[in-house]
Amino acid sequence: MAAHETAGRGALAAINHNAKEKTIIVPQKSYTVFADIYDTVMRDVDYIGWAEYVLQLAHRFDFSTSSVMNLACGTANLEMQLAQHGIHHVEGLDGSRDMLSIARKKAKDNGLDIGFTLGQMQSFKLSHQFPLILCLYDSINYLCEEDDVLATFQRVAEHLLPGGGFIFDVTTEYNILANFSDFTFAENFDDFSYIWENRYNLVTKVCVSDVTVFQKQKGSGEYRKTTERHSQKIYPQKIIRMLLDKAGFDILGDYSGMTMEKPTHKSERIHYACRLR
Ligand SMILES: C[S@@+](CC[C@H](N)C(=O)[O-])C[C@H]1O[C@@H](n2cnc3c(N)ncnc32)[C@H](O)[C@@H]1O
Repeated sequence: MAAHETAGRGALAAINHNAKEKTIIVPQKSYTVFADIYDTVMRDVDYIGWAEYVLQLAHRFDFSTSSVMNLACGTANLEMQLAQHGIHHVEGLDGSRDMLSIARKKAKDNGLDIGFTLGQMQSFKLSHQFPLILCLYDSINYLCEEDDVLATFQRVAEHLLPGGGFIFDVTTEYNILANFSDFTFAENFDDFSYIWENRYNLVTKVCVSDVTVFQKQKGSGEYRKTTERHSQKIYPQKIIRMLLDKAGFDILGDYSGMTMEKPTHKSERIHYACRLR
């Protein structure tokens, strides 16, 4: 979630806060309560453009889209857009039961037969392979150990048909420092409000986001407060390249945020298009 466009545009407040006294909280797992509000918070994310971009990359490198696995699919926003392009053989995998339950409902409401799997991207095992696997929107950054990134790349390799394509992205340190570190975002709706506090550790390269949600309860009308923690790690390009190589991938292209241009030190996100050797 580290780099979503909504944070800048839709936020009521972006407060650059320094150390201040706080109540000690024990945050719960990420993408539990946040799942309920995810689509509203991400309402300005350009999933239409994102699907077009992925398809452009697939076309450029001749990756078949006859069946696609979307790792860390979240609430299936990309799947909805891929369906608009006639790509119906899509599967999604995510580690959050709550995100998947929204994804399943969305697919059903739209008459789409999408297979969803609850699982961790670093350890999933399916009985079939795909010509194309995706993992988008900073999801790789949720893997805070290098070994887990390698394990994910290896799982992807195992689930690709020979010569298959892998398209994914990572958020950059530039993005975290420019748009997130020490910033708090908040929005206030009729049925919920949220406060999203971010801090980045330059040494560990981990951005910790505490998202506090106040949700109106059906019936009583009272608000329930919960806080969940999201941790995302920044990986330099050379590490990503080394891990991809180790897992058996050739990098066909690396691109700056939804463009066909090479990444620069001001890229907020880097997209990789890779082929299994
Ligand atoms: C920023 S959201 C992106 C969701 C979706 N790709 C999108 O574009 O809206 C990150 C997603 O990664 C999932 N996730 C984080 N760590 C994961 C893991 N180890 N295995 C599987 N899913 C994971 C979260 O549950 C969440 O749905």
